[in-house]
Amino acid sequence: MRISPVLCGLVAAAALGVAGCATPESAKPATSSSLYDRLGGMQAITAVVDDFVGNLATDERIKAKFANANMPRLKTRLVEQICAGSGGPCTYAGLDMKTAHAGMAITNDEFDALVDDLVKSLDKFKVPAGEQKELLAILGPMRKDVVSR
Ligand code: HEM
Repeated sequence: MRISPVLCGLVAAAALGVAGCATPESAKPATSSSLYDRLGGMQAITAVVDDFVGNLATDERIKAKFANANMPRLKTRLVEQICAGSGGPCTYAGLDMKTAHAGMAITNDEFDALVDDLVKSLDKFKVPAGEQKELLAILGPMRKDVVSR
């Protein structure tokens, strides 16, 4: 029995599963689980953030900004923030982004450098392009609160 792609989409959405219904990609739900799960959960997020914070501390473009930072605490907060933001079972217990970065005179170029360092870590841990894009879409809007010069 052949079923139209639209019906196949409905069938898939209702999780009924009908033989002969080859659901095309376009009819599937855009995502089947939270970004948190697709990133690999707490273990994967912690590994990426560990590496990322290592990049920040050695990146000539921005390392001076982290010279007096409490890096273990920053790591904890970043993990919480990414976990919570991606739909994971965490609560972000840190400062809001404006308060956290007040008086740091962070520039757009420095923000871009940090994103670059994060992408390096995401690539290293083989996070697929789609998930990277979703994560950056969560962090991107924070630019207006982080950049102050
Ligand atoms: C999307 C971009 C960014 C995110 C998501 C982010 C996230 C955070 C978080 C969660 C904290 C901890 C706040 C707290 O302690 O309660 C923090 C602190 C900090 N951030 Fe950012 N940040 C971003 C961009 C930047 C940039 C571009 C710089 C500098 C180039 C920077 C430098 C710092 C420093 C120095 C601290 C203080 C660390 C400490 O001593 O506790 N951040 N950030």
